[in-house]
Amino acid sequence: MPNIAFISPKGGAGKTTAALLLALGLAERGARVALIDSDPNKPLVRWGALPRRPEAITVHAAPTVQDIRDAAQEARRRDPEWTIVDTEGSVRGAMIFAALRFDLVLTPLNGSPMDAVEAIKAAELVASFGRRAGNHLPHHCLLSRVPAALKPRSLATVVGMLREQDIDILPTPLIEKEAFRALFEVGGDLSSLEAHGISGVAAARRNIEAYVEAVNELVQPPKAFRHAC
Ligand SMILES: Nc1ncnc2c1ncn2[C@@H]1O[C@H](COP(=O)(O)OP(=O)(O)OP(=O)(O)O)[C@@H](O)[C@H]1O
Ligand SMILES: [Mg+2]
Repeated sequence: MPNIAFISPKGGAGKTTAALLLALGLAERGARVALIDSDPNKPLVRWGALPRRPEAITVHAAPTVQDIRDAAQEARRRDPEWTIVDTEGSVRGAMIFAALRFDLVLTPLNGSPMDAVEAIKAAELVASFGRRAGNHLPHHCLLSRVPAALKPRSLATVVGMLREQDIDILPTPLIEKEAFRALFEVGGDLSSLEAHGISGVAAARRNIEAYVEAVNELVQPPKAFRHAC
């Protein structure tokens, strides 16, 4: 039952979008997913209240860090296979590490050097929490809102800055897509968007599939190990 957290000290980096896309992609593969919304603005709770939320996804509010454990307990009643925690965009978001044990922490960032500086801070924060708790917290950055057509030069700078600090980057970036924005207005999953005539849904679906595969590879034990268990 992997627990995944999205954190970044910078607001608007793409945490909530990335958390929802992961939940939708996993649900599409048949997994039960608990989304814990630990942002006081409750964007995922609001998405969950819109029509056509997939049955496989439950949303649980945890307005403060102290509420996360209760939210996770409430979520466990539905026996989720994955738990995904979205946090507010500030260093306070990292306080969730005191509440739950995570198998993977993801920090989305847009392709600007300023974002890279914030993502490096997030990586340091995650590493220091891991050290204090006496266990390594796997952390990856996730490039988000990458333009589909042209890869800006700043993206290469950002990747270079992260690599220089030995920070891992998820191999699949999230593309800038109107469909991803629209999910929060229309509700439901990508099929709801098709019904609303929103374009680019097929490409959005492919992007989610590749993203979910990349996350899955990171948290699932290698096949040989799985067979040995
Ligand atoms: N891949 C994407 N394609 C298009 N729009 C996106 C994408 N990712 C994020 N956005 C848009 O960028 C804005 C910020 O994204 P989001 O709310 O996911 O960031 P956040 O890190 O959760 O922000 P906060 O720190 O405020 O919680 C939103 O308007 C969202 O719709
Ligand atoms: Mg958010």
